[in-house]
Amino acid sequence: MTNTFGTSFKVTTWGESHGKAIGAVIDGCPAGLPLKESDIQSDLDRRKPGQSTITTDRKESDRVEILSGVFEGKTTGTPISLMIMNEDSDPKSYDHLKDVFRPGHADMAYFVKYGHRDHRGGGRSSGRETAARVAAGAIAKKIIDADIKAYAVQIGSIVAKKRDLEEIENNPVRSPDKDAAKKMVAEIEAAKAESDSIGGIIEIIVSAMHAGTGDPIFGKLDSLLAAALMSIGGVKGVEIGSGFSCAEMKGSAHNDQMNKEGFTSNNAGGIAGGISTGQDLIIRIAVKPTSSIGKKQKMISISGEETIIGIEGRHDPCLVPRIVPVAEAMVALVLADRR
Ligand SMILES: Cc1cc2nc3c(=O)[nH]c(=O)nc-3n(C[C@H](O)[C@H](O)[C@H](O)COP(=O)(O)O)c2cc1C
Repeated sequence: MTNTFGTSFKVTTWGESHGKAIGAVIDGCPAGLPLKESDIQSDLDRRKPGQSTITTDRKESDRVEILSGVFEGKTTGTPISLMIMNEDSDPKSYDHLKDVFRPGHADMAYFVKYGHRDHRGGGRSSGRETAARVAAGAIAKKIIDADIKAYAVQIGSIVAKKRDLEEIENNPVRSPDKDAAKKMVAEIEAAKAESDSIGGIIEIIVSAMHAGTGDPIFGKLDSLLAAALMSIGGVKGVEIGSGFSCAEMKGSAHNDQMNKEGFTSNNAGGIAGGISTGQDLIIRIAVKPTSSIGKKQKMISISGEETIIGIEGRHDPCLVPRIVPVAEAMVALVLADRR
C-alpha cells in the first residue's frame, strides 16, 4: 500500500478515521525554516468538519501537534512528525456496515484486495486522512515561492461567473462568486433534503510560478499534478489550462502566442512540454457527488447477498468546500518536491 508521497520532500500519512489519531511524517524539509503549530492550523481549520450546515456534523477541533523536527521554533532538517487526535470518533455507528459495502465507496474494492478492512468510516479510505496532507501541505507552502489558491467554480448546475478571490473564504462553499455561492448552498441543501449528494468543480491557480519546474518525460509537471490531485478521494477528473475544451479548438486558437511582453493567452495552463513556463498554473478538478447518502440503494453483503442500504449518520452532502484546502495542499506538495 502506498502511504508515502514525494521523493525529496517526502510525506507519509498515517492513521484511520475512527482510530486514536491521524498524522504525517515529513522527511526532507530543509533545516532553519521557522515553523510553529499556528502556521499549520489555519489551513487545517479550513478543512475541518462541522464548519457549516452544509458539511458533516462530525466535530473535530483538528488541533495539530508537532512532535519532532523543530527546535527553538525552527526546523532541524530531521523528520517532522505531526499528530491530530480523533476527538469525535464514533466507531459504533458503523456497526451496521461491518458486513455490507457502501455503494460508491472504497469498501468493496478494499475488501476484495486485502480481505480484512477497518469498516469504521472507511478507515484509511476516509476523507479524514486528508487532514494529515493539509498539515504537510501547509509546511510545503512555506518552502515554495508560488502562491496557490483554490476555489469552487461549479456545484451541481451552478457555475461561478466571477473570480473575486477576496470572496472565497466569505462563503461556506468557497466560491469566488458571491451570487453563485448562495445558489450553490441552496443546491447542496436541496440534495441533502432528498438524502442525496452533489458534486462540483474546483479551480486551482498557482501564481508567482517560476519557469522550469518539471521534466519533459515521466516527470512532466502536468502528470505529477494530475496524479497528486487524483489521489484525493472523490476526485474523478483533472484538467490543465483549456483542458477538455481543447478538443473543439483549432491550433491557431489554442497556441499561446508571444510578443515582447510575453504570452498573449494561457491555454496550456502554464505548462509546456511538462515544464512550467512562468505563467500561472491553471488546474481544475472534478469532484464526484459524495457516495455516502441516506437514500436507499442496492448493494451486496460480504456473503454476496443482495441488500438495500441507506447510509445514516454524518457525511458531507457535497465534498467540494472541504476538498478546496486539500487540493491546495497536494499542489504545494508537488511543487515542494520538485523545487
Ligand atoms: C475532505 C474529504 C471528505 C470526505 N467526506 C466523505 C464523506 O463524508 N462521505 C463519503 O462517502 N465520502 C467522503 N469522501 C470521499 C471518500 O473518501 C472517497 O469517495 C472514497 O475514498 C473512495 O474514493 P474514490 O471516490 O476516489 O473512488 C471525502 C473525501 C475528502 C477528501
